[in-house]
Amino acid sequence: MTRDHGGNVSEVSRIYGVNKEKLIDFSASINPLGYPPGLKEEMIQGFESILHYPDIDSFDFVSALSEYHAMRNENILVGNGSTEFFYLIPQIMKPKKALIVTPAFSEYEKGLSSVGAKVSYFQTLEKNDFALDPYALYNKLQEGFDVLYVCNPANPTGALINNYDLEKIINFSHLYDTTIIIDEAFIDFIEAGSIKKSISLYPGLIVLRSMTKFFGIPGLRLGYIMADQTCLREIKKHQIPWTVNSLAQRIGAKILKNDEYILKTRQYVAAERKALTAELKTIEVLKVFPSSGNFLLIRLEDSLGLNGPQLKDSLIKENILIRDCSTFYGLSDRFFRVAIKKHEENMLLVEILKRTLS
Ligand SMILES: Cc1ncc(COP(=O)(O)O)c(C=O)c1O
Repeated sequence: MTRDHGGNVSEVSRIYGVNKEKLIDFSASINPLGYPPGLKEEMIQGFESILHYPDIDSFDFVSALSEYHAMRNENILVGNGSTEFFYLIPQIMKPKKALIVTPAFSEYEKGLSSVGAKVSYFQTLEKNDFALDPYALYNKLQEGFDVLYVCNPANPTGALINNYDLEKIINFSHLYDTTIIIDEAFIDFIEAGSIKKSISLYPGLIVLRSMTKFFGIPGLRLGYIMADQTCLREIKKHQIPWTVNSLAQRIGAKILKNDEYILKTRQYVAAERKALTAELKTIEVLKVFPSSGNFLLIRLEDSLGLNGPQLKDSLIKENILIRDCSTFYGLSDRFFRVAIKKHEENMLLVEILKRTLS
């Protein structure tokens, strides 16, 4: 069974013999409001476009991104989800030594290993709520790395690095000639936290974005990079043509203009994150970590006779799927992650957790 990702609802229902339709998926951190309204109609209207090859430059989609981020088209490159770039960038850069701030998304390491890079880890610590210490990272960078991966806010911890500290980290990387890749897959929930504007200052800074989480479209596959023009031109030269299909391009351009949905999502997730955190904190055997994403990292008390994988198994019987985090480098089998979902679903999770852990 694939253990590296959440959201494997079909697989879980097959293995555990539970009804897929009844399973409430807290394991994948996707917008609880679902995809923006009008998407299906847009898809149907654009259906005839599949008779032609997609626009190889995704011009309309890139232009919509450029408007959304107030950035030039030349600084944006789109792809088939941001995961495409976790493989493509190492193939081009061929890094020998890479540093990943952990715990982290597994695809960074997989992409790096596919080109034989030696991967080291910079561990953020539970005692600091997994906040990144820029000076400790600075010391580590002195060992010399070709590339550094940082996720902001981090998945699965939810820890956010403020712009001031992030600028410092970028500066340190620049000093040591280390390319820095900042994965902002969850930053749309707090757009002001994005470091995108710094790409004009640092040619070695690559910002990765995903439309999967915030816009609720994991199956459509849309992601992009923001970086210096020369760097992007090089990446594009090696990119497989037409990785973003016509319908995805059309939808991508459309949803960025839906200000109402964007605002509603930010407000809803922030309010529900607060409410769910408060409720979970009433369960004594749980420690809930502060999060800036649409998910929460939670730790089971050591004295409890139940670990994360066991809790996952027992919750599946209640039609609840959580993300057991024991497969993340740097986390023990005591950790699990839950997505922020609709209010009723969040409260149901709390009720079932209270019953299971009492
Ligand atoms: C931190 C992080 N970055 C990137 C991705 C990949 O997103 P995409 O769907 O755009 O490939 C994920 C998916 O789970 C993720 O958790």
